[in-house]
Amino acid sequence: MAARIFRKLVSTNASFTRHYSSGKQTVTLIPGDGIGPEISAAVQKIFAIAEVPIEWESVDVTPVRYPDGKFGIPQAAIDSVNKNKVGLKGPLMTPVGKGHRSLNLALRKEFNLYANVRPCRSLEGYETLYDNVDVVTIRENTEGEYSGIEHEIVEGVVQSIKLITEEASRRVAEFAFQYTKDNGRHKVTAVHKANIMRMSDGLFLHCCREAAEKFPEVKFEEKYLDTVCLNMVQDPNQYDVLVMPNLYGDILSDMCAGLVGGLGLTPSGNIGLNGALFESVHGTAPDIAGQDKANPTALLLSAVMMLRYMKLNKYADVIEQACFNTIKEGKFLTGDLGGKAKCSEFTDEICQKIAASK
Ligand code: NAI
Repeated sequence: MAARIFRKLVSTNASFTRHYSSGKQTVTLIPGDGIGPEISAAVQKIFAIAEVPIEWESVDVTPVRYPDGKFGIPQAAIDSVNKNKVGLKGPLMTPVGKGHRSLNLALRKEFNLYANVRPCRSLEGYETLYDNVDVVTIRENTEGEYSGIEHEIVEGVVQSIKLITEEASRRVAEFAFQYTKDNGRHKVTAVHKANIMRMSDGLFLHCCREAAEKFPEVKFEEKYLDTVCLNMVQDPNQYDVLVMPNLYGDILSDMCAGLVGGLGLTPSGNIGLNGALFESVHGTAPDIAGQDKANPTALLLSAVMMLRYMKLNKYADVIEQACFNTIKEGKFLTGDLGGKAKCSEFTDEICQKIAASK
């Protein structure tokens, strides 16, 4: 079974690379709500200046009502991601307590996006409590406490099921090692509580150990979640790539984002069996939407991750460098970074740097 999943993973990536290694490639763009359209436009402008060989296919994911009365993602958007196999997504508004369920969850489920990858790196020029943070969290994205299996046993007693499967644990563990190897990193830490949740986290850990045996060139260690939290705020540099079940990953990845300056700067990628969706991790920022005040960095760095996934590293490097240099110089920072620049001014500065580097 393990070998079959691994072969599938590898062959998915191989066919992806073949398919995308020449000519212009089409990428699905979900601009999203609130500041989404502004920051998406910024990314498109920067990509155009950098002459990235992709074409955008913009889709709307506003939920539609299907004949069974349930709301869901429009078929055209599903078809676009299935066809293009790669997409970039802005933030989506989730109504609280009414209307459709989280579209982010629906997208993860629809495309079986099993690994959430979040690199957190300190940005020169933007001071935080920590220097030189460079960690990547890899979160199992499809099960655990977020399986949505909850019920009331008797009045006043509810039960929520934490579902852990060998298949999902193995594929995310193997992905973590492959990612570490492919990205020139050196160590994977499995984060768990198998001392308490012996069976569920025990199975997850067992799958990580098995994956480690297949990648002898990558160092492997096991750490309790609480120990990692303690160590992370004392000295984040001792970690490299961390892999963990869903809930731990949700919390720890936000904590790591906090170490480098918050969600506005943090990119992410959701990797699936049949494709990948890259997204900024912040929300729709309704308080500043439509005012040209948003910081497009998180979405831009997510788009850079997407380019590396597509093996368009040359373009990724140029764009990333221009973005980092703009932040480092500090002349055109948006409000969230303590500056006064508009989103469009920050974007134009990145564009000028790219143009100058040609
Ligand atoms: P939020 O992330 O939208 O905003 C929190 C604060 O951060 C606000 O002050 C906002 O102005 C600021 N902020 C966020 N991104 C920024 C950026 N790129 N540049 C400058 N400032 C930025 O979180 P909030 O207010 O809790 O959620 C608003 C909506 O977004 C909700 O409907 C929520 O469900 C949705 N959301 C969507 C996510 C996604 O699609 N991945 C993730 C988180 C929230």
